[in-house]
Amino acid sequence: MTYRSSTLGIASRYMAEIAKLDEETTNTYKNTFRIERKLNRTLVSFQANKNRPFYRWYKFKEAYSADMVEYFMDMYSMRNVPVFDPFAGSGTSLFTASERGLNSVGIELLPIGHQIVKTRRILSQNQSEDRIKLLKKWRDKKPWVNMTQQSDFVELRITKGAYPIENQRSLQKYLSAIENETSELQDVLLFVLLCVLDDISYTRKDGQFLRWDYRSGRQLGKTKFDKGKIYFFDDAIVSKLNEIISDIEDRQFPSTIFVPAQPGEIMLHEGSCLSILPDIESSQFGALITSPPYCNRYDYTRTYAKELAILGINEEKLMQMRQSMLSCTVENREKDLVSMNPDWGAAIKTANNHALLQLIITYLNELKDEKKINNSGIPRMVKGYFYEMSCVIAECSRILTSGSRLIMVNDNVRYAGVNISVDTILSDFASELGFIIENILVLPDEKGNSSQQMGTFGKESLRKCVYVWRKQ
Ligand SMILES: C[S@@+](CC[C@H](N)C(=O)[O-])C[C@H]1O[C@@H](n2cnc3c(N)ncnc32)[C@H](O)[C@@H]1O
Repeated sequence: MTYRSSTLGIASRYMAEIAKLDEETTNTYKNTFRIERKLNRTLVSFQANKNRPFYRWYKFKEAYSADMVEYFMDMYSMRNVPVFDPFAGSGTSLFTASERGLNSVGIELLPIGHQIVKTRRILSQNQSEDRIKLLKKWRDKKPWVNMTQQSDFVELRITKGAYPIENQRSLQKYLSAIENETSELQDVLLFVLLCVLDDISYTRKDGQFLRWDYRSGRQLGKTKFDKGKIYFFDDAIVSKLNEIISDIEDRQFPSTIFVPAQPGEIMLHEGSCLSILPDIESSQFGALITSPPYCNRYDYTRTYAKELAILGINEEKLMQMRQSMLSCTVENREKDLVSMNPDWGAAIKTANNHALLQLIITYLNELKDEKKINNSGIPRMVKGYFYEMSCVIAECSRILTSGSRLIMVNDNVRYAGVNISVDTILSDFASELGFIIENILVLPDEKGNSSQQMGTFGKESLRKCVYVWRKQ
């Protein structure tokens, strides 16, 4: 059947066909779908970390909670096995595993994730009295205040003017003051700074980009955005140091928190999982808990640009990082997966043979050719996302031991009027690439009710799910 036709009617004809194939695919999983009431938005987002010592320091908006990781570790009795996360972000899977005595390995592209993990590792080690004393000295004496020197940091086009002038000055004095400390303390103090950048700036992270408060004087668009309180630099740093010191001191004298005698080792690779995964030995991990970027145009290299600038990432490196990310923005160019790894033939074939995916891509491309899509990068992004994820899934299958589970948090998406069932398409890939699909756990909708019944899944709202796959 050919799907070419006049512009008029393209959408309706494709949409009917896509809906039919989608329903068929969904039906094949009807026994694996389950609405899991416990998996509410709080548990499956950063929210549940907000009051959790250590995890609450850096608010990584796209993180899931340590409670969620524990929930699955308990549910599937993940004990005495090494854990893997190819999209480690702030390291929630890695630290949760470590606290339970399990070794873990992760991959993360962005240096912000690395700085978070590196510092948390320093601060989770046995605490010397000296380290706490130094942090208290910084809190009480504020050594940056009387600095005459100010250190420059990278100014990116998209972050220029991000701070009120007083805060910018204090920030530069702070960067200058930390240069006098040991490299370990410098890392910790740099992390403290990263934790407060949002609070002291005119910007707020908003998925696809940074939103600018009207007080910045930057081009504002149509609506006036007021982010609310912008904190004074000194107050924000002192308050963050207080939080960190109090969490460390509480852990030294734990009341209820269980700390294993021997925390698991954490190892984090820096770079793209598409480049690093092929070098990882086969059959060595007993659990994989992860959340890739969603296919939703969120651009981490824009929303974390302030942090990346402080970490020395210039325009050129930022562009390279944007292109190395899993394709999830309209700016991602197509990656040459065959040249990246000749062993991905089966993964690419799996995506090539997926009728529903191919129909969606054809539909989106046709809309693009007819200039009927609001951004011409969408078809390329959707295609790139699924092909790259197919390769990631093939690699994850290869590095897991037989019988072990892969847990993945992901959301379905909608473009040009069609719902794209990321959950069933990726599950189809997984079952071709060595997994048994045990469950697709559906989050209850915002109101907590179960309007998403089998048969009507996806019609009213986009499913947000946790996939549970088991390596054959
Ligand atoms: C949804 S977040 C993961 C959050 C993590 N579960 C946590 O709790 O902090 C997805 C992460 O994937 C990273 N990422 C995107 N493309 C990547 C790639 N090609 N290789 C490795 N990491 C990548 C992003 O930088 C982001 O930190």
